[in-house]
Amino acid sequence: MPTTTGMKGGGYYDANSKEQRSASDAFLPWLEEAIAALPDPAIHQYSWNFLDIGSSEGANAIYTMNHLIEIVRRQSDLPVWALFDDLPTNDFNQMFSNLFPESTPALSATDVYTAAIGGSAFGRLVPPCSLHLATTFNAIGFFETRPEAQLPGFVLAMQPNPGAPREGVEVTASELIPFQKQAYQDLSHFYAARAEELVPGGKLLVQIFGKNETQSTGHGLMDVLSDALLDFVEADMLPRSFYEDFLFPAYYRDIEELTAPIQNEPELAAAYRIEHAESRDVPVPFNTAFDETGDRETWAHSYISFQRAFTEPVLAAALPEDLPQENTIEKIYQRMERLLVDHPERYEFHFISIAALLTRL
Ligand SMILES: C[S@@+](CC[C@H](N)C(=O)[O-])C[C@H]1O[C@@H](n2cnc3c(N)ncnc32)[C@H](O)[C@@H]1O
Repeated sequence: MPTTTGMKGGGYYDANSKEQRSASDAFLPWLEEAIAALPDPAIHQYSWNFLDIGSSEGANAIYTMNHLIEIVRRQSDLPVWALFDDLPTNDFNQMFSNLFPESTPALSATDVYTAAIGGSAFGRLVPPCSLHLATTFNAIGFFETRPEAQLPGFVLAMQPNPGAPREGVEVTASELIPFQKQAYQDLSHFYAARAEELVPGGKLLVQIFGKNETQSTGHGLMDVLSDALLDFVEADMLPRSFYEDFLFPAYYRDIEELTAPIQNEPELAAAYRIEHAESRDVPVPFNTAFDETGDRETWAHSYISFQRAFTEPVLAAALPEDLPQENTIEKIYQRMERLLVDHPERYEFHFISIAALLTRL
């Protein structure tokens, strides 16, 4: 079973995901280079077939797809299939509204055809040998399935941030092993599925929130979530067992982990050439605005709205039904926002965006 049902829908993710767009924009120049080097579609195909995986409600995905179509149009007038995938539980109604605002296509170039696919990134999504370009942004960090293992001392499969210590919040190296294995296996499945789908010479751009030697995209975001939940436990508003069982089901990789399956698995090593692999500390729009204005309240509100767009569906599904207070979820997000206003330095946030550009051999 997938570990998330998707993002907070009804346009909320679209309105609160400028940070993810910044994280994918950083790698658009690689895609320009990749498209220029694509082999012409085979004679029986009559189209360029582009697939984005984990597109959510689509605002960011459509923006990027438009850019990719603009680039391919510099070299070819062939029709384009613009395909968007997400989990079947995604808000696809919002995606179609975004694709056809006021009944006009958002992908405005001529001869472009759009379709949405419901399916998991870790399995096959399209017929074999059919794709010229596959992209994925900010999506494949969510575990395919939750490992059986427990992680009672934190909310994320990661060493807690040394910059935000709290008594009782701790993770041992051995506790992390099942999660590292699951993340490795997920990525192996992802690369194997795309290897079947891409034509020889086809390109795969895989980008995800990650970590470098000093920073993790989980720092700040998950510290404030953990602190708010523990405050609720200490105030008897949540059972301690809830904190011990709760896990945000994502894994923040470093750049070596992103390419490890291709380096280690002979079948994947034979299927791909790695053109680029890099990690970048990308600009975060709410931090840039904070630097300019010093307005903590606005910073905290934007930060929490960004975090809420991807954490709320998971938290809402996990919260027990019989809690002593009504509307606990709203109160948890209010608490997080308060913590940010009071301690901005404790919850400093960096978006470490890691990516690889691969060619299917
Ligand atoms: C943070 S959003 C990213 C959306 C968009 N790509 C962007 O960069 O703004 C992550 C998306 O990945 C999707 N996702 C999570 N696990 C997935 C899986 N196994 N297969 C396909 N999509 C998945 C979620 O449903 C969600 O819509």
